[in-house]
Amino acid sequence: MNPLALDLNEQLSKSNPEVADMLSDLGKLMYYPKGILSQSAEAKSTQYNATIGMATYSDSKMYANTLNDMFNHLEPDDIFPYAPPQGIEPLRDLWQQKMLKENPDLDKKDMTRPILTNALTHGLSLVGDMFVDSGDTLLLPTHNWGNYKLVYSTRHNAEIETYDIFDEEGHFTTEALVNTLENYKKDKVILILNYPNNPTGYTPTQDEVTTIVNAIKSLAERGTNVIALVDDAYYGLFYEDVYTQSLFTALTNLHLDNILPIRLDGATKEFFAWGLRVGFITFGVNNEITKQVLEAKVKGMIRSNISSGPMPSQSAVKYVLEHSETFNNEIQQNIDTLQARYEVTKAVVYDDKYAQFWQPYDFNSGYFMALQVKDVDPEQLRKHLIDQYSIGIIALNATDIRIAFSCVEKDDIPHVFDTIAKAIADLQN
Ligand SMILES: Cc1ncc(COP(=O)(O)O)c(C=O)c1O
Repeated sequence: MNPLALDLNEQLSKSNPEVADMLSDLGKLMYYPKGILSQSAEAKSTQYNATIGMATYSDSKMYANTLNDMFNHLEPDDIFPYAPPQGIEPLRDLWQQKMLKENPDLDKKDMTRPILTNALTHGLSLVGDMFVDSGDTLLLPTHNWGNYKLVYSTRHNAEIETYDIFDEEGHFTTEALVNTLENYKKDKVILILNYPNNPTGYTPTQDEVTTIVNAIKSLAERGTNVIALVDDAYYGLFYEDVYTQSLFTALTNLHLDNILPIRLDGATKEFFAWGLRVGFITFGVNNEITKQVLEAKVKGMIRSNISSGPMPSQSAVKYVLEHSETFNNEIQQNIDTLQARYEVTKAVVYDDKYAQFWQPYDFNSGYFMALQVKDVDPEQLRKHLIDQYSIGIIALNATDIRIAFSCVEKDDIPHVFDTIAKAIADLQN
């Protein structure tokens, strides 16, 4: 059991043993991780808060005006009725059209219509309910989003195995994934493919995608059932010449019955609308019966946990998809702002003068970049940066930190990295 869960149980046994006794097995196992959210909370009052998974200006959130204005124009019927468990139908169609437009290699007949989720985390949890049994293996890159552990390991008792996606120089590599899949012997695996990657901000190139997809294909051809979960939270935030369709498309086009591509995406990051809680789950299957059965089961899962998602957010996202001309321009402007920050970050972090302090991991997309810091403890560095320099960063593990350039103004980026170097020097000495 996780030490944090143990601690909570112990406290409860003392404060109220009767309630401690009432907890289910899952209730006993559950805890609130000391991860990104608690590190973010500690950095809340810093001047440069590069901890959070949002995009901000120094004095406001980054959003699209059309979507913001929409909330003043919703009719009562867009707000108050129940949405169906699977989401409002026009929105499902509009999202499917968006997917098809952005993924020219994807054929409409090879996919289910997207089903609404209460954003991506709910989608991850639904996948757990549908496909993950105790003891199943979940393969993840070593650099992954911490919440996967809570969803799959704590809730579903999956065995998480990790493989590196960066070599010793910090360059992206498919080698460890390919080796892991070549040596994989069990009859079922769940893979999570999350690019742009949280926490490193890397998206594979076309050639790297071909290598990844071929390795998954050959595992499936050897008889393993593959649940290939594509977490496209940061889809569309690409700043270099990378594979800009979803890995879901590449995997769906394999047309192998024992590979089930599942795509999770949504308005959260793509539309700069974190709190709306609008996401989608889509399966890459072409058999009509399979499509209907999967939809019925997911609907049942939703009905039995949140019943249905919020109507006002669905109506608002539907509206902007129907009025996409202005809205798309606004989103593009936000992406351009992030791209400009990315370019400054890239120009700064590889400067030779910082080589004694860190080694960057390759990055080309998304909100974040990660550094392997030299001769300092990331957690100590994180606290030192808050206390001495009013800068918030995330300590990822024993060697790495994550910096969200999505939350730092372009002109402040050189100062932030220079100060991180200074803070490392303080602690190295
Ligand atoms: C990789 C990844 N997947 C999923 C999510 C969850 O997104 P949502 O807020 O839509 O639940 C996040 C949020 O930070 C994320 O970084």
